[in-house]
Amino acid sequence: MDRLTGVDALLDLLDTLFDDREDATSRAATEHWDTMYTRPGHPLAVDLPDANLVAWRDAGLLPLDTIATALDVGCGLGRNSRWLAAQGVRTTGVDIAATTLGRARTLSAGLDVTFADVDVLREPVPGGPFDLVYDSGCFHHLAPHRRISYLRTLRSALRPGGWFGICTFAAGRMGSTADDADLLRSGRVGEGVGYTEAELVDVFSWLEPVAIGPIPPQADVAEPVFTHDFLTVALFRRPG
Ligand SMILES: C[S@@+](CC[C@H](N)C(=O)[O-])C[C@H]1O[C@@H](n2cnc3c(N)ncnc32)[C@H](O)[C@@H]1O
Repeated sequence: MDRLTGVDALLDLLDTLFDDREDATSRAATEHWDTMYTRPGHPLAVDLPDANLVAWRDAGLLPLDTIATALDVGCGLGRNSRWLAAQGVRTTGVDIAATTLGRARTLSAGLDVTFADVDVLREPVPGGPFDLVYDSGCFHHLAPHRRISYLRTLRSALRPGGWFGICTFAAGRMGSTADDADLLRSGRVGEGVGYTEAELVDVFSWLEPVAIGPIPPQADVAEPVFTHDFLTVALFRRPG
């Protein structure tokens, strides 16, 4: 019998507490995601950027003219990757859903964006460190112990002085609010975890908060955007 001697082995062991169908962030979930994006009318199949990206740019909070490279974590069909590329940011989108990545490449023809099949929790991300790391909808699906892997990846992918933006389920509006011990005991993350603003500040405490709050509604943004009232968004800057 193998006995635990390292963190990675512990994380792998904790993965086994979660039924494959209950962990949307391992390669066993690839088919789930690939199928989801083909559902007619699925909200994530729209080709619009997150409202907060546009709002942060317009408010001068995210100075895209000084940002050369970006990583879009769990990019799906690449709607945010495409928008960033259209702003002049050389963007890499990574995801575990191979068929979806193929569709993202087709949709992004002619733009300065590349897509790579990477499990950000278990594999190295090529091409970093990046000026901006952005995550819309991946982080909130993580099992509690995989936050450790996520933070490790973020630390190596985000350059000092760089920006980190995130869009997650808002606690009380979408996702579980069970504590980590209960999530681990149950072996279920369900539809995802809802985060409070304070929890996000705490999880990313090595970064400086720049902006945090509900995702802006369409009425507050000057161009068509992706927005739902169950989402919280946050922008952080890594000290230089
Ligand atoms: C809710 S979807 C969001 C997709 C996209 N960001 C959007 O907002 O349109 C979450 C995405 O994260 C991807 N994902 C889940 N676990 C991942 C992992 N370990 N590494 C990379 N991508 C992952 C899924 O395949 C899925 O495409």
